[in-house]
Amino acid sequence: MTFRARHLLGIEHLAPEEIRTVLDLADRYVELNRRTVKRTDALAGLTQINMFFENSTRTQASFELAGKRLGADVMNMSVAQSSVKKGETLIDTALTLNAMHPDLLVVRHPQSGAVNLLASKVNCAVLNAGDGKHEHPTQALLDALTIRRAKGRIQRLTVAICGDIAHSRVARSNLLLLGKMENRVRLIGPPTLMPAGVADFGCEVYDDMQAGLEGADVVMMLRLQKERMDGGFIPSEREYYHRYGLDAEKLTHAKPDAIVMHPGPMNRGVEIDGELADDINRSVIQDQVEMGVAVRMACMDLLAQNLRAERGRAALGETYA
Ligand code: NCD
Repeated sequence: MTFRARHLLGIEHLAPEEIRTVLDLADRYVELNRRTVKRTDALAGLTQINMFFENSTRTQASFELAGKRLGADVMNMSVAQSSVKKGETLIDTALTLNAMHPDLLVVRHPQSGAVNLLASKVNCAVLNAGDGKHEHPTQALLDALTIRRAKGRIQRLTVAICGDIAHSRVARSNLLLLGKMENRVRLIGPPTLMPAGVADFGCEVYDDMQAGLEGADVVMMLRLQKERMDGGFIPSEREYYHRYGLDAEKLTHAKPDAIVMHPGPMNRGVEIDGELADDINRSVIQDQVEMGVAVRMACMDLLAQNLRAERGRAALGETYA
């Protein structure tokens, strides 16, 4: 078993064998989560603090459940009622919490890079739950687990990531992970929603759904991130749905057994047809949510093992100093 990371800040820093380690352990947690009694003590005695500076439903709920099922003491810091609203900086908030000796800090922040900065200031393990347009590593890992369970592998697949690529940390983390695992990635969307420098990403880029979906094993739809747009990216939602919204007809261009994914929250009738999203023969959207809890359990378990080992070595050093 290989997992060297001290923090989980992005997929960028993970080696393929570390990704495999997370997925293998997560498979075991899927089994645990399907039992009536969903409890282990991997994080017993440890404190987990969730700090969400941006709205979240499934990610926050999923991290909270994951920590509780592993036996951690979990605290959700309510940013809306915290000193952040009184002007406290991110670093001051982090240092204050650090003084309370958390072991795991789960952070979501609207600014790209904020979580990396925070990790350099605290002495616990930090997990990135999404930072701006940068990374969302647990989302890419849960997507990989969902794909691996549906397709039997996470190599040599053609994965089409469609929609608002420019504003999406989900797209970025998935692109990195799928590339490391030797898959073929296609990005599909209007040129206005492609990030700058997309030609250098090493993947195929399409602005036409039919051409881009041809032969795809996996179709990953993304939400139009209106909160990150300052106007003018799409002509209208109706027009966008017509050209880029996934429906049963457009899906016929992908492989007959292609699966449909979406990280949520979905805009039904904007990027995806509601009926297709609910079609259990094609859509694995609910599986993604289930895999999310298991993947977060695996990540926190592995980080906690490294944290314990590091503290053990430090204590030994003190004894013999
Ligand atoms: C994503 C996010 O927050 O980046 N959602 C999620 O974590 N489930 C995608 C999105 O907000 O569209």
